[in-house]
This record gives sequence, structure tokens and C-alpha cells, in this order.
Amino acid sequence: MPDLNIALIGAGFMGKAHSNAWRQVSAFCRPRLTPHRKVICGLVRPQVRDMARAYGWEETAADWRKVVSRPDIDIVDVCTPGDSHAEIAIAAAQAGKVILCEKPLANTVKDAERMLAAVERAGVTHMINHNYRRVPAVALARQIIKEGRIGKIRHFRGTYLQDWITDPGFPLVWRLDRRKAGSGALGDIASHAIDLARMLVGEIAEVAGATETFIKTRPLPDHPSRKGRVTVDDAVVAAVRFANGAIGSIEATRLAPGRKNYNRFEINGSLGSLAFNLERLNELEVYFESDPPSLRGFRTVLVTESTHPHVAAWWPPGHIIGWEHTFTHTVYDLLEAIAAKKLPSPNFHDGVMNQRVLDAIERSSRTRRWVRVKGVA
Ligand SMILES: NC(=O)c1ccc[n+]([C@@H]2O[C@H](COP(=O)([O-])OP(=O)(O)OC[C@H]3O[C@@H](n4cnc5c(N)ncnc54)[C@H](O)[C@@H]3O)[C@@H](O)[C@H]2O)c1
Repeated sequence: MPDLNIALIGAGFMGKAHSNAWRQVSAFCRPRLTPHRKVICGLVRPQVRDMARAYGWEETAADWRKVVSRPDIDIVDVCTPGDSHAEIAIAAAQAGKVILCEKPLANTVKDAERMLAAVERAGVTHMINHNYRRVPAVALARQIIKEGRIGKIRHFRGTYLQDWITDPGFPLVWRLDRRKAGSGALGDIASHAIDLARMLVGEIAEVAGATETFIKTRPLPDHPSRKGRVTVDDAVVAAVRFANGAIGSIEATRLAPGRKNYNRFEINGSLGSLAFNLERLNELEVYFESDPPSLRGFRTVLVTESTHPHVAAWWPPGHIIGWEHTFTHTVYDLLEAIAAKKLPSPNFHDGVMNQRVLDAIERSSRTRRWVRVKGVA
């Protein structure tokens, strides 16, 4: 099958994770279409050059506008901060490109809806990178739920805890600036918990949320002796009601000392329970009421069998995989969706629904009332 040329916009943390995924996917997952690392684009020249050398990008560029309109580009992969997602993705859609966009889809519901309208109008394939859907243990949890093995779901408890801004001396980086990031822990990491909740349980219909900014000012990155105002939340907690009657909670913070990337959920159904923690990502805890009473208890499944989702591409049982593999699984599924002329999941529709939940939580926190999520009956 022919090559597809990739343009990656943004050469930072996610630029590196996506570069690695595009580099690994053909060798391990064997997609029908072969991605070609054509051009990487970013604002900081030495960073872009270094990334191109390390990950085998053929060309470098500084202006995304020139890149997304190039006739030889097939897929635009958006890895910039949230304030530029809408502009880049809408231009890429108008140029007829396939788009993979980092989460959250945008900084506002309005922009997310504009992005969805643009890709639908252009008829292009679109995907949002909520990569945790493609942890094998998470995909197994989904299978178990779909097979009805834990029965009717009653509870979802999602927590995403990190600690990298615990020190008040940590500088005022773009993630703490509302104009760049849209929100704080909410859009950055609660958005992942919301995506898992939507995938595993269903649409969130109503929320009661509280956000808090504990450290109000921080040193400016370029002038550490001066301080600037933090304009996003440090932490969020929300009670949620699902459209199917389940209830749950979502909590996210970047101020939980000792928690590095503690993306955990627990789901309780009428016939059993499931629990997952990203810091132990090869494992899924399962509990089934159908087990003989004398043997009932949580057991830990090592999700590394070739029969488990996504695993066959990698190593023999017990030869565990890591966080970066979730990105490779994502680009593999995107390539296969393009080959099959299908829309991958999650896509911009999911991005819009996620953004509406984020927005409802912020409004609920402001008004101290339950808020309904737009578009969910
Ligand atoms: N899926 C995940 O697990 C995950 C994890 C971290 C970040 N993210 C998301 O990825 C996106 C990027 O985050 P990051 O951590 O990589 O940030 P980062 O600061 O490490 O990198 C951002 C890069 O974008 C470049 N950039 C900014 N504006 C640009 C523009 N107009 N044109 C070209 N390049 C531009 C910067 O120079 C930088 O190289 C955000 O939307 C973030 O929420 C997702």
C-alpha cells in the first residue's frame, strides 16, 4: 500500500511521544498503510532539528500554515498547546488532510464545535488522542464490561493525580496560563478520566464540580525574581451522573505529593468490579460475584497474553509494555481506520462531548449547582 506522509506540529513532550509512535508502528503493528515521517514543525529551531535527527523526520519547518496546505502531506498530527488546536485543525481540514489532534480538543466548547463542524464539512478522517483507551488492560476492561461480566454498572470512580507543581517555586509555565491551556488539572488530566468514563460507562449527563487554585502566584519562567498570577485550577473534584443511571466521581490534581501519574479508575457493577492504575499499567484487577464464595476476592490479571487487546504486536506473555506503546496503538488504529475508510474512535465528536463535560464542571464550580451537559438527554 502507498505511503502516507505525516506532518507533526509541535516538537515538545507529545511531539516526542508521537514521533516514537510513527517510527515504531510499521515494524511492530504492521498496518496496511505505511506512514512516512515527512516534516516536523515547531517554534524552537534547535528543538525541532534535534527531534528530526533523533526520530528520523525528513524535513523541519517553523510555520505550520505552510505545512498543512502542502499537497504532499496526508496526515496532520497536532501536538501543540490547546490555544492553537482549532486554528491548525480547521486549516488542515480545509486542505483535506486526515487529522490526529492532542487532547483536550480545544480550549473552549465553541472552538471544539467549530473543529467538529470543519472536519465534517470537509469529509476528512479525524481522531483525538486519548491514548489511555489503548492500554491493553483498559481495553480488556471495556471487553469485560461489553460481555456483561460485571453486570449493570452502578459506580465509576476516576482519579488522576500528579505532583509536578507541588513546589510553589515551580514556574508559571503555559499549562498554568488559561489563555494557552484553557484550564488546569481539569483539561490536562481530568479530560482523560472523563474520556475513560465515557468509553467504559457511557455519556455523563450532569455534574456537580469544584475547582481550586491553591498556589495563586508563581515565578515567571524568564524572570524568576518576579511572580505572575496562576489563571487555571490546580485541582478539580466532581460528582457525576451518567445518562444510564450510574453515578460516579472524577478527581484530578497536580498537587498530590508522591503521585506521579496515578490515573486510576474503579468500576462497580451488579456482578463484579474492575480496577486499573496506570502506574501498574500491565495489570487489571477483577472481582466476579460468580466465583465460588470460598474463592471470591480481587485477582490481578497480567494483561500480556497475545489474546489480550493490542498485545499480539509486541512480546511473549509477561514481557511487559509501557506508556509509550499506547501512542503506537493509537496511530495504528488511525492508519487501519483510514485503510478501511472508517471513522476511528475517539474522534472529534468525543472531543466535543469531553469539552462539554469540562465546561459543565467549570460552570458548576462557579455557580455551586448541578449543571447538565449539553447534548446529553
Ligand atoms: N495524551 C497525553 O497523554 C498528553 C500528555 C501531555 C500533553 N498532552 C497534550 O499535548 C499537547 C501538547 O503538550 P506538550 O506536553 O507536548 O507541550 P510542550 O510544551 O512539551 O510542547 C509543545 C510544543 O508545541 C510547539 N508549539 C507551540 N505553538 C506552536 C505553533 N503555533 N506552531 C508550531 N509549534 C508550536 C512548542 O514550541 C513546543 O515544541 C497539549 O494539548 C497537551 O494537553 C497530551
